[in-house]
Amino acid sequence: MKGKNISKISSVHQAIALARKKVKDNLPFDAIDICENILKKFPMNRDSKNILKNIRSDPASNILAEEIFQEGNALYQNGDLSAALNCFKKSVRISPNHFKSYFNMAVVFQNLGYLVEAMSNYIQVLIINPSTTGVYSNAGAILRDVCFTEYDPKFDTFILQILNERSHARPSDICLAVLSLLRQKPQIQNMLKMFKSQSSPEEITALIENLSKESLFLKIMSLCPIADLEFENMLRRLREKILRNIHTVTYTPSLGRVLSAIAVQCYVNEYIYKRANSEDKILVEIESRVSGTINDKPQACVKEILMLACYKPLHAYKWSAYIHQIEDLAQVVELQINQIEEDKKTARSLKIFKEIADSISIDVREQYEDSPYPRWIDLKLEKVPLTVLEIGRRARLRISNEAIYQCASPKVLIAGCGTGQQSIEAGSRFKNSEILAVDLSTKSLSYAIRKTNEFGLKNIKYLQADILDLYDLDQKFDVIECCGVLHHMDNPFKGWQVLANCLKPGGLMKVALYSKSARGFVTEVRQEILKLGINFDSASIKRFRQMIIESEEQRHKSVQSFADFYCLSELRDLLFHIKEHQFTIPEIEHLLSRLELDFCGFESDRVLNAFTSQNPLHDSLYNLNAWSVFESKNLDIFSGMYQFWCQKRDDTASL
Ligand SMILES: C[S@@+](CC[C@H](N)C(=O)[O-])C[C@H]1O[C@@H](n2cnc3c(N)ncnc32)[C@H](O)[C@@H]1O
Repeated sequence: MKGKNISKISSVHQAIALARKKVKDNLPFDAIDICENILKKFPMNRDSKNILKNIRSDPASNILAEEIFQEGNALYQNGDLSAALNCFKKSVRISPNHFKSYFNMAVVFQNLGYLVEAMSNYIQVLIINPSTTGVYSNAGAILRDVCFTEYDPKFDTFILQILNERSHARPSDICLAVLSLLRQKPQIQNMLKMFKSQSSPEEITALIENLSKESLFLKIMSLCPIADLEFENMLRRLREKILRNIHTVTYTPSLGRVLSAIAVQCYVNEYIYKRANSEDKILVEIESRVSGTINDKPQACVKEILMLACYKPLHAYKWSAYIHQIEDLAQVVELQINQIEEDKKTARSLKIFKEIADSISIDVREQYEDSPYPRWIDLKLEKVPLTVLEIGRRARLRISNEAIYQCASPKVLIAGCGTGQQSIEAGSRFKNSEILAVDLSTKSLSYAIRKTNEFGLKNIKYLQADILDLYDLDQKFDVIECCGVLHHMDNPFKGWQVLANCLKPGGLMKVALYSKSARGFVTEVRQEILKLGINFDSASIKRFRQMIIESEEQRHKSVQSFADFYCLSELRDLLFHIKEHQFTIPEIEHLLSRLELDFCGFESDRVLNAFTSQNPLHDSLYNLNAWSVFESKNLDIFSGMYQFWCQKRDDTASL
């Protein structure tokens, strides 16, 4: 029955009678259709509400919903996503609390690329059953690719929950999604506007008050670099305004909250923001005032100490030992003093495999001792560890020798683990695994060890070693991961060869390498840096960065779109690395063949989805020629590097 038929009261009576008859005839969906149509026209209609209530509270409805849900699952398994979606939608019409249907609806929406709809359904799951597992991590995965075009407070609350629950996503992976949502929020829009003009001390106070209420924004600021120039400008100007008004601004809990968040953000981005000489002068005055007062009245210096922490890590100050007890400083003291002390201690007790001898490895190590990469706070942990088979299936790998899938307790090597994000994620992902993580940089390894302890993983060992020396390691591995490392070696093939030698026959290797095509503009800027003779020290890097920000050149605009542009060690990695090789897909194919490794597939949902939408044949996924053609039409598709898996041939397998 269509809505236009029930616009008159008499026909409403008829419609209600018909709905009752449908219930009697055991046709509940027809009855639901009729009642919902009535409610569209007459939202207060009590009879319709009662009929719906009776249908939905009938235990038989729940049974029917479950049957339809199972039917949807079968369709999903067969790849008929839209029919599956219809089943899940139908299931919740008759049993609105059937949270499993909402969950699966979210999964289907996610698969179909309707990411905002998927998020809404995950929220619905939590409303019905707050303890459902998998919601936060699935939603965390969606947030890597979503871009919100309008503000909705339910997403604000949900994302904050995801971040507060910890370890469901790498914050830097979801930062742009968070900013896309916040940019649509009227309160944030006002703040962004305000920072473009001069503001009085009263306005600054009001701004601080407003910003202190923006919990999601403060949260993301405390977790990763804010990779957006408009937001960066707002934070930089706010920092400057508070500094210039430091004597007049009264210390309140709101100011404490905002200054702590800026201090953490600046520490996380490694103090990348530009600052004027006149700011330095004010800082010197504050420093002298704090060192004169702190012995007697440390509590009286909280505002000034937080201000200093926005410009320089507190461990640099002699008086840093006196401020551990001040509650309002707890967050910055932990990050800018305690953790640094702990890392120094750990570095002294690190296991060293061999003295690093290769001259490029020595230079690379120096770079990462200066700038351990990346400086991260949170990451994505696998809540339930997976077998190698499950990991392979999830990554849609095609492998010729499936013996590796029987490996129940894999030995995993993380080659060039940096500050531990990769090794800890692998440690949580591979079930019953034993992980060995190596890197050149002691500072990076100390950071990694601290974070491994923080997340309570017991299956990871760290070792300072050059990949080139691993020929002498008396261990072979089932799985090796080497991401963002080989292209920084003098001879990537040599490094890769050593790793292939460390891999057991039939073992799997994940590699990430720079794509020449995706880094076209980066290469232009790197050449410009060499031509201009820019030094590689922090001050020179920051000055060059500022020039890029002010430039209208396409190559400069383009490098701003890399998240690495917003953090000093990452920017150094992006544009100022002392060694960088880039690859093409045919080159990778050639290297794989020389190393007797078989290509098993690229990793990255975003890239795979884009590829399959243009190459529907399943086999193309494993055809490097098809990938090469695809990349030639989508030049920056691998801006996040070529990330792929390969398998070592096992000559004994066919015997
Ligand atoms: C860009 S970072 C990547 C870190 C980590 N793989 C990740 O994805 O987060 C590169 C790391 O590789 C390490 N590295 C570079 N050359 C290496 C070598 N020859 N042996 C061991 N580690 C190396 C560096 O010290 C640095 O920590």
